Amino acid sequence: MRNLINILDFSTEELLGLMDTANDIIDHPETYRERCKGKNLATLFLEPPTRTRLSFEAAMYELGGNVIGFSEAQSSSAAKGESVADTAKVISCYADIIAMRHPKEGAPLVASMNASIPVINAGDGGHNHPTQTLADLLTIYREKGRLGNMTVGFCGDLKYGRTVHSLINALARYEGIKIVLISPDELKLPSYVKKDILKERGIPYEQTTDLETVMPELDVLYMTRVQRERFPNQDDYLRLKDSYILTPDKLQNAKSDLIILHPLPRVNEINVEVDRDPRACYFKQVLYGKYMRMALILKLLKEAQKSLAPGCDDVTVIKKETDTPDCLVNVLHCSNPRCITSTEQELKHIFKLTDRENKVYRCIYCETKSI
Ligand code: CP
Repeated sequence: MRNLINILDFSTEELLGLMDTANDIIDHPETYRERCKGKNLATLFLEPPTRTRLSFEAAMYELGGNVIGFSEAQSSSAAKGESVADTAKVISCYADIIAMRHPKEGAPLVASMNASIPVINAGDGGHNHPTQTLADLLTIYREKGRLGNMTVGFCGDLKYGRTVHSLINALARYEGIKIVLISPDELKLPSYVKKDILKERGIPYEQTTDLETVMPELDVLYMTRVQRERFPNQDDYLRLKDSYILTPDKLQNAKSDLIILHPLPRVNEINVEVDRDPRACYFKQVLYGKYMRMALILKLLKEAQKSLAPGCDDVTVIKKETDTPDCLVNVLHCSNPRCITSTEQELKHIFKLTDRENKVYRCIYCETKSI
């Protein structure tokens, strides 16, 4: 069964295919109005109401399908202590596809390992947000006409900003990408993203705390909100929340064809005066997100149909060897308090070998390195 848990689950060709479908939907919406007639999307959002949920719902309705679901943990059986695995099995009886947001990192992966229908990660803690990346990629592609050969600046909360992690993962596969990381020291990009993605793939990058100095280099500026809900200490949040506030003045030295993105919601980090600047693309980005989610739903439902065809194997392979094990099951334990294994006691702790030379194992749910 195909799912979208991490943006790397899709090849660059598949991402291009999704963008082609999204562009076709934009040009010919009438031909898509009944494509999902009789199909149900379950939106399982265990975090407060979000635009991502509304975007999924709008996408499914525009394809002629139905939507069931909930928008906060209190209105689901999670409040009664139901596991993610059981929820996924139950929802598989009612729906054809699931979009799940969960505060714990790796929860949508657990759902995908237990559901018999496709699962889409709609954001897991501070980890990943691949459908926001789909929106970001289509915005960059339509506004710049390319996905490679550009300098992309990420500004704000690069530690907890899951949209940043997913977009860096995606952009690192295109030619000629340079990344500029702009954040306070306390909110720097996690080392697993820096090491496993940027260093591993030889992507040039620089880190700075000063947005204005690097502004003239940038082709894309990706602003982010400081993620209050992920801070263990609210005093730190208050100290850091206004680290960067983009104003028209600060854009004076920017390129004339810069594009400014933001996954939204914004708090203070982009002054509303900037909205009038033609380089501000964050509201277009919202609209493109809906079209990419329509394209994604169509793709995953089509592939699910194929995988149910007779003779098609659908087995999740976790390789386990004794000599140099690719995978360790219940040998190491994940120490990340934000990982789904921290709350779901029955879950196996599975670590995958990600760096054979240095024997580095990482938790398959949250990518935390073993210690
Ligand atoms: N961009 C985004 O994920 O927004 P929400 O958290 O409101 O869904």
